[in-house]
Amino acid sequence: MTLKRLSVVLLACLTLCACGGVDPNSPLGQRKAIFKQMLKTGEDLGGMLRGRIAFDGPKFADGAVKLDALSHEPWKHFPQVREEDHTSAKNDVWEKQARFEQMARSLEAATGELVIASQVQPYKASNLGPAVQKVEDACSACHKEFRDH
Ligand code: HEC
Repeated sequence: MTLKRLSVVLLACLTLCACGGVDPNSPLGQRKAIFKQMLKTGEDLGGMLRGRIAFDGPKFADGAVKLDALSHEPWKHFPQVREEDHTSAKNDVWEKQARFEQMARSLEAATGELVIASQVQPYKASNLGPAVQKVEDACSACHKEFRDH
């Protein structure tokens, strides 16, 4: 191996290592990035209801639309065959696909309902608690069955 080639390999390795060894363009890297955005968006909505962030009706409604769009995105980045490394998805994602799909649809339904609830005017934080709870329940129900930790 020439020195130049070696440094290319080293560089590639460093780039990968910088984000936990996951290539951001791989299906795994892409779905992780979407899940992280979902978490961030969901936390901001929950934060507005719990008083951590000031409630802002239009902002909340925008966040709900964003979360709803994101909730349709991760699933296409689960490939036919499970990755060996760095995934915390259980084998069940591939072995019980119908159940996994069902839980994905139930998240999408919950975020859809959140969008509708968030558009009711006058904007009121007190109307939105149950819809946010339903979304959070859909996240955690699936993680319990399909995520390893
Ligand atoms: C239908 C199942 C399902 C639903 C619904 C779901 N997740 Fe996940 N989530 C997973 C699986 C599977 C993984 C593991 C992905 C992997 O590592 O391959 C995961 C991983 C994550 C991660 C970790 C990403 C990382 O960097 O490793 C976060 C954060 C996350 N989900 C947030 C959410 C939030 C927030 C919601 C709800 C708004 C949600 N998820 C709904 C199945 C689901």
